[in-house]
Amino acid sequence: MLNFDFHTPTYFDFGDGAEKNVGKLVRLFGGTKVLLHYGGGSVKRNGVYDAVVSSLNEASLPFIELGGVKPNPRSGLVYEGIELCRREGVDFVLAIGGGSSIDSAKAIAMGVPYDGDFWDFFGGTKTPEAALPVGTVLTIAAAGSEGSYNAVITLEDGNIKAGNNPSVVCRPKFSIMNPRYTFSLPPYQTACGITDMMAHICERYFTNTKNVDVTDRLSEVLLKTIIANAPTAVNVPDDYDSHAEIMWAGMLAHNNLVGVGREQDWSSHGMEHELSALFDVAHGAGLAVVMPAWMEFVVTHDIARFAQFAVRVWGCDLDYANPEKTAREGIARFKAFLRSIGMPITLSELGIPEDAIPKLVAHRAKIGFPLGSFVKIGADEMTAILNLAK
Ligand code: NZQ
Ligand code: ZN
Repeated sequence: MLNFDFHTPTYFDFGDGAEKNVGKLVRLFGGTKVLLHYGGGSVKRNGVYDAVVSSLNEASLPFIELGGVKPNPRSGLVYEGIELCRREGVDFVLAIGGGSSIDSAKAIAMGVPYDGDFWDFFGGTKTPEAALPVGTVLTIAAAGSEGSYNAVITLEDGNIKAGNNPSVVCRPKFSIMNPRYTFSLPPYQTACGITDMMAHICERYFTNTKNVDVTDRLSEVLLKTIIANAPTAVNVPDDYDSHAEIMWAGMLAHNNLVGVGREQDWSSHGMEHELSALFDVAHGAGLAVVMPAWMEFVVTHDIARFAQFAVRVWGCDLDYANPEKTAREGIARFKAFLRSIGMPITLSELGIPEDAIPKLVAHRAKIGFPLGSFVKIGADEMTAILNLAK
């Protein structure tokens, strides 16, 4: 196990009715004037917006709003939000929605106290040292941004999708998680979220670091819980218990509990960000295509680890004479699972033509190679992986 530090100061208020506490929590964390930040309207249709507004009113908290965050959030709205907060004296940013609204809120919060361009924290080497406090009211179990110190934004100039240099100042002060507000999600979007959280675990699970039993076992438990609850959560939109399991698993998948003390990979995310930057696909759907192909490409690098994944997570029997067969069976079951919850598993199913592969690789090259650490992925490797996914 490698040395690590782990500081997760987010306060979680989980369960039915938790949104009623939002006003109290903003006050507890020092907010006196709030920016409400949300997406394209789902929060108004499913009632969470009204519940939040009434809690803010009850706490006598003034607020202004900025809606319109798009999935794969763009830099333009972040710049607008920074100016708005400065002009209006906002001291707390409250996101209602999923990873896109939360990430946009985090980027605004980093930008307000900073003299330069907020993109310095994303494209460059700067790490944020201060940020406005952020709270979240989560409406989709997916990105894990409600507990993470990451945000992912697309710079419109050049379509560059990138994450920030992580800093503890970017972790939300609190996150409200009421599984009921995920009932209004279309099944496809629920499945995208499930895929994303599984990918967050796998990016950490496939590591070259030895002796990481605790985080291996925690990862396997989370994956098994997600696999067990996913079919009900996708097919029965108002089943509270499965949505609750999925929602909490999504947070644990990405607050780095299962990633500490080990080298992490993240090359599937790096490749997927090209798909969502250039073709605006849902992040989870892009991962459903890229991650199994990445697994097929790298499986021989550590057959024992992939066989462990197959046996412990997917219930395969270990073929002692031919562990590679077991390892590949695990990947096949992962793909079949993704297919069973309605995910695309090829680029063409995602609407991305085969002849776009060179463009995707060239665009990534502008940001830089290699990706990953389990196996270093350069331009040739990315081309081969995307060809496996076509
Ligand atoms: O915009 P609205 O109208 O709210 O609709 C959203 C959006 O169309 C809809 N939605 C959300 N909750 C809903 C709902 N519709 C009905 N009922 C509800 N309860 O779902 C769509 C997707 O929302 P989005 O916020 O984009 O989803 P997600 O949480 O998957 O976030 C994806 C973004 O997060 C980034 C991704 O790259 C992507 O940009 N990520 C952020 C990470 C982080 N900050 O730590 C890590 C991840 O790896 C990921 O990269
Ligand atoms: Zn992700």
